[in-house]
Amino acid sequence: MLRTPLLVINFKNYLEASGEGAVRLAKIAGIVAEELEVEIAVAPPIPDLSNIARSVKIPVLAQHVDLAKPGSTTGAIVPEVVNVCGGAGTLLNHSEKRIPTSTIREVIPKLKELGLHTVVCAKTPEEVREMAMLLPEFVAVEPPELIGTGRAVSKVKPEVISKSVEAVREVSSSVRLICGAGITSGEDVEIAIELGSIGVLVASSIIKSDSWELKIRELAKPLVK
Ligand code: G3P
Repeated sequence: MLRTPLLVINFKNYLEASGEGAVRLAKIAGIVAEELEVEIAVAPPIPDLSNIARSVKIPVLAQHVDLAKPGSTTGAIVPEVVNVCGGAGTLLNHSEKRIPTSTIREVIPKLKELGLHTVVCAKTPEEVREMAMLLPEFVAVEPPELIGTGRAVSKVKPEVISKSVEAVREVSSSVRLICGAGITSGEDVEIAIELGSIGVLVASSIIKSDSWELKIRELAKPLVK
């Protein structure tokens, strides 16, 4: 299980957070995680996953996996391969990489069998309920219209978080809710936690900041127990 409260940094395919930049960012996240004793997981671009997993001790997630088998599946992102490359788990169904619910239903048990963490994204509280029923480790609610805007879900649409928390609670005590979209400041994180979220999923405010270290520190501080 990933420890909570949790900060997940999604590097997406930002160029500055790819290649050498991905290693640098992951290492900074690792230093802050250790210093503040907060669980920080990173989701670098897939081509960087293996290298990052060798470079840091914090959990490294894939941004997506396919429902594909090892072997003759050229180009697919195969859960078993993520596992042998040192990945600790994966994001699934990110709003920039949506997949059918039937695929999520099939792939979650496979990921669990491999001991990989599962963070399934959903756009609305209704979808959160649907995803929670598939019993991933985490559901991450992210209103797509706020992603990358700097307008935090916790401030602009707090009801999305509280309704999602409720939806998850009604479905299963084993599933946990995190949130993302527009999270930019420590205050945004604080409010998310007050609303019942057990962590946050963040990309642009960290990657585009002048100091990755200061921004990660700011966002991780409210998660210190
Ligand atoms: O996966 C995290 C993400 O979609 C939120 O993006 O840039 O609004 O933090 P951002």
